Amino acid sequence: MEPGSAVSAVRSQRVLCGEKILPAVIVIKEGKIHSVLPDSEASAHVAGKVLDVGDSLIMPGIVDSHVHVNEPGRTDWEGYWTATRAAAAGGITTIADMPLNTIPPTTTLRNFNEKLCAATGQCFVDTAFWGGVIPGNQMELKPMCQAGVAGFKCFLIHSGVEEFPHVTDADLHAAMKQLQGTNSVLLFHAEQELSHPVAEKGDPQEYSTFLKSRPDIMELEAIHTVIEFCLQYQVRCHIVHLSSAEPLELIRAAKQAGAPLTVETTHHYLNLSAEDIPGRATQFKCCPPIRGTANQELLWSALKAGDIDMVVSDHSPCTPDLKCLDSGDFTQAWGGISSLQFVLSLFWTSASKRGFSFSDAARLLCEEPARLCRLDNQKGSLIPGHDADLVIWDPEKEFTVKEDNIHHKNKLTPYLDRVLRGMVRFTIVRGQVVYSHGSFSSQPLGKHLLIQNKSTTTV
Ligand SMILES: *[C@@H]1O[C@H](CO)[C@@H](O)[C@H](O)[C@H]1NC(C)=O
Ligand SMILES: *[C@@H]1O[C@H](CO)[C@@H](O)[C@H](O)[C@H]1NC(C)=O
Ligand SMILES: [Zn+2]
Repeated sequence: MEPGSAVSAVRSQRVLCGEKILPAVIVIKEGKIHSVLPDSEASAHVAGKVLDVGDSLIMPGIVDSHVHVNEPGRTDWEGYWTATRAAAAGGITTIADMPLNTIPPTTTLRNFNEKLCAATGQCFVDTAFWGGVIPGNQMELKPMCQAGVAGFKCFLIHSGVEEFPHVTDADLHAAMKQLQGTNSVLLFHAEQELSHPVAEKGDPQEYSTFLKSRPDIMELEAIHTVIEFCLQYQVRCHIVHLSSAEPLELIRAAKQAGAPLTVETTHHYLNLSAEDIPGRATQFKCCPPIRGTANQELLWSALKAGDIDMVVSDHSPCTPDLKCLDSGDFTQAWGGISSLQFVLSLFWTSASKRGFSFSDAARLLCEEPARLCRLDNQKGSLIPGHDADLVIWDPEKEFTVKEDNIHHKNKLTPYLDRVLRGMVRFTIVRGQVVYSHGSFSSQPLGKHLLIQNKSTTTV
């Protein structure tokens, strides 16, 4: 099946049907899943091109709700063309772009429109957009909501870029008042500066020096703040990239108390650990930091227990010079990890060994991120009426990450030369093959997802 072509049905011996894996045919009409039929009944119902994929697994396409595309303004870090091709190669059918690291940041209606223009004609997968909350922009929130941002993100600590300042409690009260009753969601980078910050002392080329400067308590204190606001205003709140296991108790209690709160962690916190990070290896730097193996085990348990709702990439690349590879100085290097293309394989490599099922993978990587972005009426599940967004992959097949097969604009990643399990064969967006065995559709077939209170429109 050529990339770019539309398929009217896909047959496999292994289709994720609810919790089960069954032989089935997915019938597609006008870009949507029309029906999922047992193999024996299918021949009577299918006309047109049937893609038979043997026993490759068919799952809903991955929804990655945490991606920094960086265009416009820092397009040398990443851009729509390269990011969405990498996504397609990794079985991702929807990304949601973060409001910062672009110039301008997505903090006004005007800036949002500028971003939509920059993304037009460049997306190989469907793309949603987060807005940002910064001091003083509360009157922009409702207009951005109406224009279709998926929700908003804010920082409780310096964001790393000057044009996206962090908020104070007063800013949060102002923003929450605007968001009440909108059904939107506020995402928090949950680290908070301590009243007695820990100085970065020690050898800057050692990872432990950086790790000690961002202790667990910074996350714990920030999450206290998030929960207070969440309970007071009953506005949906979401904690991005939880790295520390210490706040889990607090999170469980808040959810039990009825806080409309969700939590994500990232593939790097689940796979990488502080003990294994070599000196000078700044490709491992991100904020909050990758912590130790004992902490990591607790994150895996919380994922299994449902205390952590989803796993995303937080793909946040930059140019190699900003990673300070020459000096190997962790304190100076840009914090951000590149991984977008490898999220499914990364997750499956670790999760399959820990007894996670394909339906767990679909819940954590597809359904829950779609719900976060208010796309669950359309994305994230293989049910009739949903968009025919599929990843077709060989979960048992291994491959090695090499620069040559990385489609991100900048190739630096902590996963270079690693062997991962789970190889993507086809990625299908709304019934169209956007990726097949190393090749892409010649046209970018992705759409912008503009999210309304109830329904979603695509343009
Ligand atoms: C948005 O949806 C929520 C929940 O469904 C509803 O209560 C609210 O009135 C809606 N707001 C607007 C602005 O349409
Ligand atoms: C991380 O991924 C590697 C493969 O690249 C795998 O060998 C290792 O077990 C994973 N680590 C964890 C903690 O799951
Ligand atoms: Zn991020």
